Amino acid sequence: MAILITGGAGFIGSHTCVEMLEAGKEIVVIDNYANSSPKACERVKAITGKDFPYIECDIRDEEKLNKVFASYKIDAVVHFAGLKAVGESCVKPVEYYDNNVGGTLTLLKAMKSAGVKTMIFSSSATVYGGENPVPFKEDMKIGGTTNPYGTTKLFIENILTDLCKADKDWSVSLLRYFNPIGAHESGMIGEAPNGTPNNLMPYIAQVAVGKLKQLSVYGNDYNTPDGTGVRDYIHVVDLAKGHVFACNRALSVKGCEIYNLGTGRGVSVLDLIKAFESANGIKIPYVVVPRRPGDIDVSYADVSKALNVLGWKTEKSAEDACRDSWNWQKNNPNGYDN
Ligand code: NAD
Ligand code: WQD
Repeated sequence: MAILITGGAGFIGSHTCVEMLEAGKEIVVIDNYANSSPKACERVKAITGKDFPYIECDIRDEEKLNKVFASYKIDAVVHFAGLKAVGESCVKPVEYYDNNVGGTLTLLKAMKSAGVKTMIFSSSATVYGGENPVPFKEDMKIGGTTNPYGTTKLFIENILTDLCKADKDWSVSLLRYFNPIGAHESGMIGEAPNGTPNNLMPYIAQVAVGKLKQLSVYGNDYNTPDGTGVRDYIHVVDLAKGHVFACNRALSVKGCEIYNLGTGRGVSVLDLIKAFESANGIKIPYVVVPRRPGDIDVSYADVSKALNVLGWKTEKSAEDACRDSWNWQKNNPNGYDN
């Protein structure tokens, strides 16, 4: 019995592969490497000393998916595969809906044909939109996403919810991630964005390594203690561990369940810069520029449901994540390309 991990070569996927293997689970990875490298899978093997198959496969290719399900005894799918760049999704909405929503529908058809009815899905705190008060709770109204990427997550949540209503044999876990940062402490796997990073932590790390001159802080006039945006930054290893808990739960309970995966703590942009500087002894030059369109002031999770039901909570601090991000960045300045 194995867990199929779609997008398993990616940032969160590769860390989840490590934690699944460390928890004694067998895994099979599929990925089309649109935003990753098969080298990440080799590094997962080196970290864990465990072997597993990784297959080049697009989740929109139903025939190939059917072959994967026919070749391995899969009991659950952890579904990371998707495109995730917010700005790009505004330029290429059709590609994002096709890849993320279309790909998920094709995957669900292949799962149904194979009789596999357990899925753990990578959703996002972005589905809470900009109107809810913090901390965000799983039962709050969702919607009001500000970009096609976020809307793909909303649509997929709706599709999976409807599926569980229609067929009581399905078991789905919708995991709403807050802001994943950090890297495995080995420094062997981490986040490897294409081109100039959009997200804060990889941007800071590339300033630290000298690839970028300075950080632009997007606005200091938000309704927050220091005026900069506040987010719930979760160490990717904690996040990866959350998938092991969610997977065990989904394999034993039917229906659709939703969990926030975050720390429950809000950290501002300036706080994160300070944490990086103190964890690594490196100064991060920055300049304050106007707000980035679509950004909200504050986002952090109510994490009580994940603790009470899954028995999971985060263990690592923002400083741990800053140290591990830097360890990955300085050892792999060009991601998996060197
Ligand atoms: P990532 O880009 O590193 O990983 C996604 C993986 O999916 C990549 O390896 C990519 O090559 C693969 N992929 C994309 N389209 C595919 C397709 N059609 N067929 C097969 N493989 C495909 O991103 P990540 O940060 O690891 O994110 C993983 C998941 O979590 C994504 O669904 C993302 O939307 C979601 N998520 C990420 C964040 C974040 O900030 N990183 C936050 C919330 C949710
Ligand atoms: C964090 C904070 C910025 C870059 C995005 C997606 C979301 C989710 C996670 C997938 C904000 C500020 C950033 C920079 C800055 N992804 N910032 N200078 O926007 O919370 O979430 O990634 O689901 O859907 O929207 O993350 O890391 O981009 O920004 O000042 O160069 O850092 O304004 O306050 P965000 P982020």
